[in-house]
Amino acid sequence: MKTFYNVSVKPKCRKRTGLTYSSYMYPSVNFRRCASHNKLISWPLSFIRLLFTCKFIMIVTILGLWVSRIMVAEAMPAHGGHTNCFTIYALNANGMVNPGKLAHINSVLTIRRPHIFVISETKTNVRIADKLPIHEYNIYEEVGKPAENHHIFKWGIAVGVRKDIQVARRITISSQTLAGRVIALDLVIGTNSGKGFLHRVIGAYAPWNPGGDGNSYWNDIAKLCQEETISWSLAGDLNATVSHTERASGGNDARLHFSHFLQSTRGRDLWSEKPERTREMDWTCRARRSENAGNIIDRVVISPTGFIDAEIAVADRSHDYVPMTDHRAIIATLFPISLSDHRNEMVIRNDMPFLNKNSQPRIKYPARRDKGKFDEYRERVDLRIQQLKLQDDDIRQKKSLELHGHR
Ligand SMILES: *[C@@H]1O[C@H](CO)[C@@H](O)[C@H](O)[C@H]1NC(C)=O
Repeated sequence: MKTFYNVSVKPKCRKRTGLTYSSYMYPSVNFRRCASHNKLISWPLSFIRLLFTCKFIMIVTILGLWVSRIMVAEAMPAHGGHTNCFTIYALNANGMVNPGKLAHINSVLTIRRPHIFVISETKTNVRIADKLPIHEYNIYEEVGKPAENHHIFKWGIAVGVRKDIQVARRITISSQTLAGRVIALDLVIGTNSGKGFLHRVIGAYAPWNPGGDGNSYWNDIAKLCQEETISWSLAGDLNATVSHTERASGGNDARLHFSHFLQSTRGRDLWSEKPERTREMDWTCRARRSENAGNIIDRVVISPTGFIDAEIAVADRSHDYVPMTDHRAIIATLFPISLSDHRNEMVIRNDMPFLNKNSQPRIKYPARRDKGKFDEYRERVDLRIQQLKLQDDDIRQKKSLELHGHR
């Protein structure tokens, strides 16, 4: 309230056009003085004057004070490492050499800010991390392998972990069938209490017949999922389906291997938990220039325990568009169970960026469905004004304004 009056105001009242921004801000003092001297001030100005009568200022002031009180209750913790969910974005980029495509991928990641991203089929033998949002993410890569028909590279995968999530370790992949196609990381997912739990995230690309034996690919993935007793998630282009409604034809072998994997790990395939999905609406891969339905082969599978809830969807907003790939990205939102139910509790490093152990509440503007809060708020302010008997007061002097502010 004090800075309000510390600014010295020199209203220019000679001409109508001489009204300055500051005279709009402090009208109850200045207009009065001006009006008595200056006959040029006519009805538009008196209207503005009316608008800025003392009561108006008073109400705005009190409104401001109360907004913070009501909205704070609704606020969420500010940072990703400490929210109660985390998101995984997975895209088969079908090559990461074209600068236009890279620009699109960067822009999607900047807008969506997933906690984890998995970009598969980078198709290059050079590292691409510094072409991705490297300031926001720790990026792990497996470069592509040379393809039989010279010059080009196949596979290749990159996994990014937002820097507010601690990476405990990167798992060394010894299996030859997984090399160049799989990255596994143990993360520490933070909770509001400033602690965290271990979670293994596996970014995968599963081309058909990898290493000549699809079965060994899926067996090796299952081992990665199960070698520690921690929760896990597997995300990427798995090139596998669970039902005939997900692929137009073929892929039976891949379906068998994948189903066997799901049975042996008791993994939750998130698309399976969405019975209303269709190839028309939810395709993740579709032949170029096709107007028909595609296939649902980009997937997220999570461990049977460790999550209250999880959700998967296709990234199909206009800002999600990435050119020159026949895939669309998927987004999974995972809600882990509370910390006390995790056996692998551990303390988060205290040098993590954005670490905010107190999770300071922030002001949150109500969503449209909560617009009733505005009414609730208005009623409470009206009541308060009545209780304090403010409605008949004028705030003309500094003193009385401060009084109102403090109440
Ligand atoms: C994906 O699976 C289908 C059906 O099994 C197969 O025809 C296709 O070649 C596979 N794609 C890749 C890139 O392996």
